[in-house]
Amino acid sequence: MQATAIAQPNIALIKYWGKRDVARNLPAVGSISITLRALYTEVRVELDASLSADVLLINEHEDQNRLPRISACLNRVIGEQRLPARIVSKSNFPIAAGLASSASAFAATTVAAAAAANLSLGTEELARLAGRASGSAARSLYGGFAELGNAGDTIHLSSLCDEQSWPLQVVVAITETGPKATGSTEAMEISRATSPFYDSWIERQDDDLDAARAAIEKRDFASLASIAEHNCLKMHSVMWASRPPMVYWNPATIRCMQTVRKLQQQGLGVFFTIDAGPQLKAVCLPEDADAVSQALSATPGVRKIMTSGLGPAARLVDEP
Ligand code: PMV
Repeated sequence: MQATAIAQPNIALIKYWGKRDVARNLPAVGSISITLRALYTEVRVELDASLSADVLLINEHEDQNRLPRISACLNRVIGEQRLPARIVSKSNFPIAAGLASSASAFAATTVAAAAAANLSLGTEELARLAGRASGSAARSLYGGFAELGNAGDTIHLSSLCDEQSWPLQVVVAITETGPKATGSTEAMEISRATSPFYDSWIERQDDDLDAARAAIEKRDFASLASIAEHNCLKMHSVMWASRPPMVYWNPATIRCMQTVRKLQQQGLGVFFTIDAGPQLKAVCLPEDADAVSQALSATPGVRKIMTSGLGPAARLVDEP
């Protein structure tokens, strides 16, 4: 009645922003992501009849605020008549700061919960369950490049290319470690209700997905760079034009973008992407990763650099 799973966060190159059904947490657009190797969340789920209610420990501290979402995730995987659970989660990176910690946490929780309850579910089913808790978590059930397709009444997941087939590197420039101002569900709803750019964002997403899929298939870094930066800046334009406006960047985020532009002018294979937080993720060709890491470390306002290759899918950890 217990299991431990590990999942890596993923970074979207073609972003998910907006929900078509909030109750079922269905995204309004498809998305394409890469799963990272160096960052991880490990979650142990223990179903225990002696508990009177669920208990959640995150990095050794009891967390009441995040407990309802985790309990709801367990209810969806196991069923509401389940035993109470002790959920112990550990991450090696700052949580709720735009580093996709909810993706790795809910992917690992879903996999561990299913195993603790002795359910054998397929990867896509696990991804759908993880996606109910956090849309991006569905993508962490896949390694390398994954696509979350948005058709019909549910989501469809597919693997576009595994982590060995195109071994890109990602340099994460951490500019702030505190929690983000507005959570993504609330922020997406504000954008849908108020941003004049929201409808055209939704309408053009399929074109961006087609371009990114083709670039990945051909291992065409320049084309992937161009469409990923465009899609990222378009998502942030939707956020900036919302009311109230949502600006997740700080001055160091913009300096990091300028650093990436300079490196591109010098001919390095690198592009940036930024999620609902102030961290910049520079995706680069393996041979350029050291130069990208040095240049971002030297950029004023950068507090920490993490470099990562592409990582594997969420999986169970063998119990001793
Ligand atoms: O899955 P959520 O609710 O954490 O939303 C993810 C939103 C972005 O990170 C900004 C984009 C994405 O596709 O990951």
